[in-house]
Amino acid sequence: MAQLKGHERARYVTRMFARISRRYDLMNSVMSGGRHYAWRRTATTMAVEGLRGRALDVATGTGDFAFDLARRPEVTSVVGLDFTREMMELGLPKAQRQGVRQLVSFTEGDAHGLPFPDNSFICATVGFGIRNFIDVPRALSEMARVVEPGGRVVSLEIVRQDGRGPISRLARFHFRYITPWIGSALAGDREAYTYLPQSAQGFMSAPELAEAMEEAGLEATTYRKLALGAVAIHVGMKPRRNTC
Ligand SMILES: C[S@@+](CC[C@H](N)C(=O)[O-])C[C@H]1O[C@@H](n2cnc3c(N)ncnc32)[C@H](O)[C@@H]1O
Repeated sequence: MAQLKGHERARYVTRMFARISRRYDLMNSVMSGGRHYAWRRTATTMAVEGLRGRALDVATGTGDFAFDLARRPEVTSVVGLDFTREMMELGLPKAQRQGVRQLVSFTEGDAHGLPFPDNSFICATVGFGIRNFIDVPRALSEMARVVEPGGRVVSLEIVRQDGRGPISRLARFHFRYITPWIGSALAGDREAYTYLPQSAQGFMSAPELAEAMEEAGLEATTYRKLALGAVAIHVGMKPRRNTC
């Protein structure tokens, strides 16, 4: 996997998510001890507080982040975008069950070339998606482009931990050995759940991601760490004077 480049890697990722789509929600709950729902709710608050209008959720998967956005009074409607149709197909009945079907629409598309005009949304969120992107700076620039001035780009992601302390070592041990084992036992897909830890360890640290967001033209970028530092929520604002 590590040696795959560009479009080959994108094809690998979308096939993998298509394969695990039916077990994806369950696996998320098992891997995070059920915490992923609370993390998205926190990220949602950070994305929309004080704003009002349409929201975009990039790499929406089965839609959980989009549904949290839709439940917020500030949000008038949500577009969930993903390049794996099989994931979004599972989102439609979920949206119905959760009473947000009228507010959420799903669109097939690639984060590296968002099919929306500039300044279309109050926020663009991405949950556990950004580390799969083949060109993170480009995807961040795209998210910044489609957000209105004063709007926010928000990422919820597993970040690389470089520390030598016991917690960082424990997190690495968990990702390297426990995650693939659970993946093979529960999802029947050891390969996919070996990719997950590899992609997290090969991804940016929290300060590196904050820097990438600033380089994409966002400002006042902050981040908050969760899950003993393994997960981070990053928030960046598009400058009110449009410089993106
Ligand atoms: C781990 S899932 C995250 C789903 C959801 N955001 C969540 O919070 O559970 C990652 C999703 O990113 C999507 N994805 C990865 N790269 C993408 C890209 N370049 N453009 C659009 N979607 C992408 C995958 O298809 C997959 O559905």
